[in-house]
Amino acid sequence: MHGFAYRQGSLHCEDVNLQTLADEHGTPLYVYSANTILDHYRRLDEALGAIDHEVAYAVKANSNLSVLRLLAEAHAGFDIVSGGELFRVIKAGGDPAKCTFAGVGKTRAEIEYALKQGIYSFNVESEEELRYLNEVAAALGVIAPAAVRVNPNVDAKTHKYISTGKSENKFGVDFDAIADLYARAARELSHVKLRGLQMHIGSQLTSIDPFIEAVEKVAPLATHLKVTHGIEFWSIGGGIGIVYHGSLDSGDTGWWESKPEGERPLTIAQYGQALVPRLEHLGLKILLEPGRLIVGNAGVLLTKCLFEKRGKAKTFKVVNAGMNDLIRPALYEGHHEIAPVKQPTADTGIRKVDVVGPICESGDFFCQDRELPDFQPGETVALLSAGAYGFAMASNYNSRPLPAEILVDGSTARIIRKRQTLDDIIAGEA
Ligand code: LLP
Repeated sequence: MHGFAYRQGSLHCEDVNLQTLADEHGTPLYVYSANTILDHYRRLDEALGAIDHEVAYAVKANSNLSVLRLLAEAHAGFDIVSGGELFRVIKAGGDPAKCTFAGVGKTRAEIEYALKQGIYSFNVESEEELRYLNEVAAALGVIAPAAVRVNPNVDAKTHKYISTGKSENKFGVDFDAIADLYARAARELSHVKLRGLQMHIGSQLTSIDPFIEAVEKVAPLATHLKVTHGIEFWSIGGGIGIVYHGSLDSGDTGWWESKPEGERPLTIAQYGQALVPRLEHLGLKILLEPGRLIVGNAGVLLTKCLFEKRGKAKTFKVVNAGMNDLIRPALYEGHHEIAPVKQPTADTGIRKVDVVGPICESGDFFCQDRELPDFQPGETVALLSAGAYGFAMASNYNSRPLPAEILVDGSTARIIRKRQTLDDIIAGEA
């Protein structure tokens, strides 16, 4: 969490005190560090500097217009998964010609919109979809640029909901079927131009090994397609994991000493050092589609403790954010560190608690049986590493307004999304 640290007894985002933001804007509140986002983007860009490449930010991780604008101004490309995401990228000043369009179920309307905007490539996931793309392009009298997603059947060793590169996943075309598919497409599909190859093996990968395995397995295929079909790019996907455990220096209280075995950070430098030598001789433009790496540790969700409820078996800290605001713990058993905004001291007691939200579901928790420095009702706590798949997956479940979002740049804090009102929630309903 590079942009987040305790200073003068309070957690800050860059030069802004998070307590001040919580007081001014209320909670739950998402806060992002602009300079952390840019730093992650630039470091990845530099790590691949020795080869022809482009970083196409995976918009799904955090699609706020101001976040997209930051990255557009840094000349990022964008990996989109819907017409809605393309609309956002364009509104934010992003270049459609730097957009790749992923996903297993694109609609005619989305394909037409993306064709008219002139995107770089449709990353298609099946022969059926490729034929459909050809049909839609033919009807418009244009040629659709495309790449097929290869499923390399590599175990990404991540949570089963975010693993995508195994044969049993719904994604991509079997490795062994790709060469024939390209040959058939070249013969039969006159309104598709296969300009690349794509893969993505999963998300939150904390080891380099699956990346190496996939790149080594698919590289000969990419070379073959370059020779036989003149493809120009290979997207190796996203998936670089981030540190969730102990993602902030807890100071001298040391309450996060308990980093579990196994969560070793995969650094950007390691990623570059391992992959560049395996990619540089291919003569292909290499695309990356990172989402979490860019924004995950650039954001927190601030929430207020409402009550402490002492049950027979457990102590619950009830906070005013719920699984509708941040669903990762409920959905993937995702771990987010929980840090009181007021810096704990050596005198602060450590308590084993469940931090739970107000939603009417037992899955509405942010941690269970976790030892945390004690905090009281009325105090603000930060759920860390919430910049990716946080707000982007938030919903109005239980008719709760979506939280506001703030972007911090140095000592400036800007509202980049207003908190929803109750009227916003029912807008459009009859
Ligand atoms: N490219 C493709 C084709 C993808 O499907 C994804 C993520 C990415 C790139 C970006 O992956 P990243 O670099 O962010 O790992 N909601 C889940 C994560 C779902 C990821 C879906 N696909 C979570 O909160 O962990």
